[in-house]
Amino acid sequence: SHFWAVVPAAGIGSRMQTETPKQYLNLAGKTVLSRSLGKLLAVPFIERIMVALSPNDAVWPSLPEASESRISTVAGGSERADSVLAALKALDSYAAPDDWVLVHDAARPCVQSAAISRMLITLADHPVGGIMATPIADTVKQVDAEQGIAATLDRSRLWAAQTPQLFRYGLLVAALEKALDAGVTVTDEASAVEWAGHTPKLFSGSRTNLKITVPEDLHLAELILAAEGE
Ligand code: CTP
Ligand code: MG
Repeated sequence: SHFWAVVPAAGIGSRMQTETPKQYLNLAGKTVLSRSLGKLLAVPFIERIMVALSPNDAVWPSLPEASESRISTVAGGSERADSVLAALKALDSYAAPDDWVLVHDAARPCVQSAAISRMLITLADHPVGGIMATPIADTVKQVDAEQGIAATLDRSRLWAAQTPQLFRYGLLVAALEKALDAGVTVTDEASAVEWAGHTPKLFSGSRTNLKITVPEDLHLAELILAAEGE
């Protein structure tokens, strides 16, 4: 079966508090989006990458990746899941239902290409797919409306979900469409797939695969890339 990729990059990055959306901020001499795409382009199994961009995006044409033959773009939607679904549908003429599709956030530029390859190989025979994740290091508290601690969760069974997330193409499209139709909150692909009754696998990743979310994350990402010689 074939491997395809989807990169949601249509967000406004409100928590970054910058004028420029975070996918276009400078990270060690390239945009965050260019760095994330570079990690996927370095995985030879991936035949085509569909990038979801904001309809108002004016920056993309100036990126070197805009002229890359393995990359296509499509207009994203108002929520992340809408952007992912738009990109999945734009792959319809390429992808067969049993093909694999890897969804990776533009905002995770520190993922390692070697880790992506290992994940693809590890999950290759799985009927559903799986996600990159790390065990939670902190003790997690559930709070009430007044920020009083209502419960302490069992940390030994808690993992933090990252992207990339890898699923069978037909199964993921059906699960996302069904979940969005039902009005379920879908913050990652796995949540829609779980909601549809499947059991995705966890693939143990690295904490250095952080998501650029708040301003300090950009400094951490610079340190991580520098430590990896980039
Ligand atoms: N994303 C998208 N379409 C949207 C919203 C988000 O493609 N309508 C993308 C973002 O560009 C990002 C990824 O989904 O690469 C993860 O989302 P998040 O970290 O929440 O990014 P933003 O929504 O841009 O940031 P914020 O929530 O702080 O506004
Ligand atoms: Mg968001």
